[in-house]
Order: sequence, then C-alpha cells, then structure tokens
Amino acid sequence: MTIQRTAVIGSGLMGAGIAEVLAKSGLDVIVREINDEASAAGRARIEKSLGRAVEKGKLDADARDTALSNLRFSTDIADLADRQLVIEAASENEDIKKSIFSELDGVVTDPEAILASNTSSMPIIRFAQSTSRPERVLGIHFFNPAPVQPLVEIVSSVLTAEEVRSTVTDFVSDVLGKKPVQAEDRPGFIVNALLIPYLCSAIRMLESGFATKEDIDTGMVNGCAHPMGPIKLADLVGLDTCLFAAQSMYEETGDLATKPPVLLSRMVDAGLLGVKSGRGFYEY
Ligand code: CAA
Repeated sequence: MTIQRTAVIGSGLMGAGIAEVLAKSGLDVIVREINDEASAAGRARIEKSLGRAVEKGKLDADARDTALSNLRFSTDIADLADRQLVIEAASENEDIKKSIFSELDGVVTDPEAILASNTSSMPIIRFAQSTSRPERVLGIHFFNPAPVQPLVEIVSSVLTAEEVRSTVTDFVSDVLGKKPVQAEDRPGFIVNALLIPYLCSAIRMLESGFATKEDIDTGMVNGCAHPMGPIKLADLVGLDTCLFAAQSMYEETGDLATKPPVLLSRMVDAGLLGVKSGRGFYEY
C-alpha cells in the first residue's frame, strides 16, 4: 500500500508537529480538531514552526506554501472516511483515546487503513481492542519537537500484523525521512522508560531543595552534553504529559522511579504546564 491520504487527530504540541511532518513530506493531511478555535490554534502552531524552518534555512518559501496547501482542518470525524493512515495525538487520557479509536473504526472505510496512536506510554493493545481491526492498530510515537527530532518509535501490540509494522517502518524512514526503532508495547516503550524516571528524579531533586533548577539544568547540559537540562525538558514536553506518562507507568509497574513527584502534580493542578502554557518551572 502506498500511503498518501493521512489524518492526525488533535493539533496540540504533538499533533501539530506530526501534521507538519506529514504535510512537508508531500502527503494529503486532514487535521481533526474539536472546534474552530482549536483548529485555528493548531494552524497557527504549524505556520509558526514552518516559518521558523524557513528562517533557519531548513525549508524554502515554496516548500512551506506547498506544505500548507497539503493541510486541511475539519471538526467532523466523518471527513476521515477515505484515509489510509490516521495518527491519533489527542491528550493523554485513556478513555478519550479509546473513544476516538472506536469512532475511527466506524468511520474509516478502507479495510487496509492503519490506525495509530502517538501515545507516550499507554498500552497500544487497549486502543486496538476498541476497534474491530486490532491487527491494523499500532503506536507511531514521535518526539518533541516532531519536525526536528529524527526518532520515531514503532510500537507493535501483541495483535499488530507484521505487514502493518513493516509498512509503517518503511513509511517512517522512506517517506518521512525519520529514524524508526522497534519497541514492545510495554510501559514507556524504549525512550520514556528511560526518560520519565530521569525527569521525575530531577523534579524530586528540585523539590527536596537539593539543587536549584538552574544548577540541575546546567549540570546536565555542561556535564553530559545534553541539548537541554531535565527541568527545561520537562517544560518542553509539557508537565501534564510528563505527569500522565509517569502515572500510567507507575500504575502498571509500581516502579518507584516513575512515581510522580508531588511538585509535578501541583504544577499541573495550577495550570503551569510548561512552554505551551507560557509558564512551567521557567517562564516563556
Ligand atoms: N523546523 C525545522 N528545523 C528546526 C525548527 C523548525 N521549526 N526549529 C529548529 N530547527 C532546527 C534548527 O535549524 C537546528 O538545526 P541544526 O542543528 O541543523 O542547525 C536545530 O533544529 C536546533 O535548533 P536551535 O539550535 O535553534 O535550537 P532551538 O532552541 O530552536 O531548539 C531543541 C532546541 C531542538 C528543542 C533542542 O534543545 C533539543 O533537541 N532539545 C531536546 C529535546 C528533546 O529531548 N525532545 C524529546 C522530548 S521526549 C518526547 O517528546 C517524548 C515523550 O513522549 C515525552
């Protein structure tokens, strides 16, 4: 199957980035949002990032215009009927995601279509089981910012067909130009299984007064050559996303390294979500 007609559910931080990657790769993309206001915000996010790519010399103005012309927004899920690949990037809420997969199952007509989730850490099998075609469901997990980070985790559930896994792997490398890795449907897959305990440890270090956020970040940037320190990275990922990922990993594994720090929960309760809300541990 040659994938050409695609869709992304949600145009938040990750959804917008994924839609941008698909549109820049010459694919026809429908972005499904819940209302016109959310669609306008998603479009603005994509336009801003494409503008940045032009400024940085990564894209010329014609390619930006072509990418924008490949994108359409819709609030009606029925518009996704003819899609060959749908990537769900709604917020990290299991019930919301399950109901999206169930709706997609009723709407997408092509039996060969592939339904994917960009979840950071939730079990893919639960979304697969919300459809009548679990073998066509898998995880396609991008990293933030999706237009910049090369990695994509391909997450097969115990029911994903081998042909779906290999089609998506080829698509991610050959069409999107990204670096795929194969991950099991286990809590945190590969990267978050390592990253979430690290981010939680850094927040606990801050919470206990062990070191300032600036010194924690400087330590990892200047001591380990990371592009940004863990406190700033938590802000970039989104503190709500960090919390949901930690909660879901902790619930399933009981691993204390993934237990969400109280400070993280309080920040999210306060609406301090990081870069996307203008304030997290730092101000933006
Ligand atoms: N489009 C295309 N390219 C862009 C771009 C855009 N919108 N914005 C920046 N770039 C390119 C730049 O041109 C530059 O490329 P070169 O290195 O080839 O010159 C590169 O991206 C870095 O850009 P900048 O130096 O201008 O730095 P920045 O401040 O704009 O961005 C950053 C910094 C890319 C975010 C970098 O700090 C970084 O990589 N940080 C770590 C991010 C990370 O770890 N992400 C993973 C999070 S975990 C996750 O997402 C998974 C999960 O489930 C929680």
